[in-house]
Order: sequence, then structure tokens, then C-alpha cells
Amino acid sequence: MAYLSKADAAAIDAELMGPGGFSLDQLMELAGLSVACSLAAEYPAATHPRVLVLAGPGNNGGDGLVAARHLRHFGYEVAVAYPRPTQRPPFQGLVTQLRRAGARLVPVEDLGPDAHAWPADVVLDGLFGFSFRGPLRPPFDALVAALAAGAGAAARATGAGDAVLRPCPALVSIDVPSGWDVEAGDEAGHGLRPDMLVSLTAPKRCAARFAGAHHYLGGRFLTPDLAARYGLADLPPFPGTQHAPAPAPAPPTTASPHADLPGMRQSYTAGTLEESDAPADPLALFQRWFGDARAHPGVAEPNAMVLSTLGAGSAPSARVVLLKGLDSRGFAFFTNYASRKGTELDANPAAALTFFWEPLQRQVRVEGFARRLPAAESEAYFNSRPRGSQLGAWASRQSAPVAGNGRAALDERMAELEGQYADEREPVPYPEHWGGFVLEPHALEFWQGRPSRLHDRLVYERRGGEEGGWTLTRLQP
Ligand SMILES: Cc1cc2nc3c(=O)[nH]c(=O)nc-3n(C[C@H](O)[C@H](O)[C@H](O)COP(=O)(O)O)c2cc1C
Repeated sequence: MAYLSKADAAAIDAELMGPGGFSLDQLMELAGLSVACSLAAEYPAATHPRVLVLAGPGNNGGDGLVAARHLRHFGYEVAVAYPRPTQRPPFQGLVTQLRRAGARLVPVEDLGPDAHAWPADVVLDGLFGFSFRGPLRPPFDALVAALAAGAGAAARATGAGDAVLRPCPALVSIDVPSGWDVEAGDEAGHGLRPDMLVSLTAPKRCAARFAGAHHYLGGRFLTPDLAARYGLADLPPFPGTQHAPAPAPAPPTTASPHADLPGMRQSYTAGTLEESDAPADPLALFQRWFGDARAHPGVAEPNAMVLSTLGAGSAPSARVVLLKGLDSRGFAFFTNYASRKGTELDANPAAALTFFWEPLQRQVRVEGFARRLPAAESEAYFNSRPRGSQLGAWASRQSAPVAGNGRAALDERMAELEGQYADEREPVPYPEHWGGFVLEPHALEFWQGRPSRLHDRLVYERRGGEEGGWTLTRLQP
């Protein structure tokens, strides 16, 4: 994908507003709509209801104000900080529209130096775009410093705020993250690290250095002749008739994506684990940590765990399964008994589970013996599953090679079963080759990441003999 130089980006804008026939407000309206649609695609109002828009004095600020108005109409609670309002017509009108739409205009002094304490789930950075030239002046210097320390990926990496109770707001930048050079990016290396970038018209050169999770292209004003002249013909088309812009393809990397592996590291500062936090029963601690993982919006599948088993000759194998039950017997999951893991566990019940909840910087390791659940329990769980999953359990001989015409053979088998059980009133029978295992633990380790790799590790081991209960040991990190 092509990346625009600063000069070409300025030339395209000049062409659009000259021979191209666009007015400034038209470009702002389209750009702002794209930004609002992109933000809503990744951070829906249901999970991220509060958006704080930071609008700068230039046109990027105008894009931010338009986005703020659309976001308000999309159902977000919108606050706007616009420290240097411009009296020119489209800007003044936008402020009026925002007030009437119910957005809150907040004085920048009210925001404070800690962005993670700002009342926002998402911060939209519309401070400076590609026309910015440093150095930053007050109050923008303080705003950018607060964002660098307390919002987006950089702040999460250094553990600003409390990962559970006060997660850092997500940071979305319009076109060029504020304070970045349009071509060189964040030259000093300690500026903003937005989670999302919405490139307008085409990505600028600095976008190749963007390492956040979501990169969208918006504000698609290009005509075919402009695209051809500026080498932008391979930009992806808008999907269908929507205003929601297409996610931008990954930047072409000159170095291989693993070239900087030695330098990839996080500092673990999200929490601590003391002996005083550890109850006598490890399952009680597991439940507490599992509750934290469930409550964290950054953990999509807290019950996903790696199951490790042993095959012939003690050859280990591991895969992800879902925790589906936890009681005094242990950790339950469901699978095909004839699968690789199923047959391995029947032959050798020694097994291990690993949970990793990345935003909490926590790992739990469980070791024990996994045995089949009673058939009645497996059947009861099978009957509670969606019909499609029930038929899937019949359709797949999990871990066996797919014979015949590949994927199509599977789809045909599924279609056959759907035909056979078309009458929804007829229950799908329970397949005896499918069911649960419960892993009874004899050791559990709770790991909390700490700075300088001096992590907290507390291990519970089941005491033998009559005494019962668990011993607790701290291991070196
Ligand atoms: C998030 C996630 C959840 C999964 N959950 C299950 C599960 O609960 N049961 C299962 O049999 N396979 C599950 N799988 C698929 C397994 O990882 C694996 O591909 C499959 O069970 C075959 O493993 P095997 O050949 O070693 O037996 C899941 C995979 C992922 C990525």
C-alpha cells in the first residue's frame, strides 16, 4: 500500500479544494463521518459509552468536531475539549451543533494531568494533523503529555492506572497522532501510542510506524485520476455502500515482522500477589482472579485455557479449550472423546491447564489428573448447547484427517445432518463419543507479573495423607 509524503498530502488537499470542487466543510463532514464510523466499529457505545474529543485549532480539530456530533447521534456520551476555538464559519457552526445535540464542552483545565483519570472510555485525538509543526505550545503540550502517559497502548504497557478498576481509555488518533512527524512518526519514541489510527484520504508515511491494534482508512475523496497520479490506485475500496471505512491493510514492512523480537517487552506493573492475598483454598483465589478477568473488557474469553496432555512415549501436546465448569472436583471442559486429547487423557490422565489473562498480567497453571465426567452430566450439558454445536459434534470426527474433497466434505456432512434434524422439535441425540473431562488439581500456581521480571509466584500443592488441605510456597520468578 502506498504511503503519502507530506508534500503529496498537501498537494492532494489543494487539488481537492481547487479543481476538485470540494469546499472545506464538505471534506470535514466526510472525514468526520468516517472517523465516527471507524471509532464506533471498534469501540461500540455499549462497551465504551463515554468519548472525549480533543479538538485542535486546525482542520484536524474540525474533523474531530464533526466526528463528535456524529458520535453523539450514534448514542455516545460526548465531551469535547476545544481550547482554541476558531471563529471561522464551519467551526463556529459545529460548536453550536454540538451544544444543541447534547455534547458537553469541557474546559481543558478540568481535564487534569492524568489521562487515565479522565472520565472517558475512548479519547479521540483531533489536536493536530499533517500541517502540524513543533514544538507544542500550552495547553497542547500538557494535553499530549497526559495522553502519552495515561491513554492508549503506551500507558497500558507501563501500567498507568489500575488495570481492573480504572483501565486507561482507548486512544484513537485522526490522520497523524498528535506530536508525531508526518513522515518520521514519533521520532523521540516516547510520544503517543494510539490504539487506533484513522488515516484520511490515504495513510501518511508515519502510518507505517503505527503499531496499534486498528488502522482504518476514511475520508475517501479520491477520484481515479488523482489516485493514479499519486500512486494510490491500490487503496482498498469502501465496503459496499457504507460510510464505514475499510480497515487499512497491514503496512509493508521493510524489516521482517520478527526482526525486533529481542526488543519486544512489557513492563508488568498491573498488580501484586502477597501471601496475605492467598486464602487457604486455591479454588477461592482462582475464583477471585477469574472474576477479575471476566470483569475486564480487554479479556474476551477469560475461560479459554491451554490444555496439555501426554501421548505415547510421553510426547506432550497442547491446545486451547474452554473451561465449562468449576466445582470441588476441579476444572471441567468438553470435547470429542475420540480426539487426540480425548484418547491421550483416557490412556494417561496426567494433564495441565494454563490460563493467561494478558491485560491483568496474570497466569494460572494447574496440574492434576483429568477423568471423564459422568455421562449424565455430559448429556445434560450437550442438551444445553446451541443446535448448531450439537450437530457439529456429530459432523466432526475431531482430529481425524478430512477425507475426500476437503472443507466441502465437512460442509456436506453438516448439511446432511441439518436435513436429517430439520424438525426443531426433535432433539438432537447425545453422541456418546463426546463429553466432558474434569481435571482434579494437585498443584496450582498463581503468577502475577512484576517489574524487572521479579514476578510474584505462589504455588499451592495438595498435602498427602489424612491431614488434607494445601501447602503454599513462594517460588523464585
Ligand atoms: C478459543 C478456543 C476454544 C476452544 N475450545 C475448545 C473446546 O472447548 N473443546 C474442544 O474440543 N476444542 C476446543 N478448541 C479447539 C482445540 O484447540 C483443538 O483444535 C481441538 O480440540 C483438537 O485438538 P486435539 O486434536 O489435540 O484433540 C478451542 C480452540 C480455541 C482457539
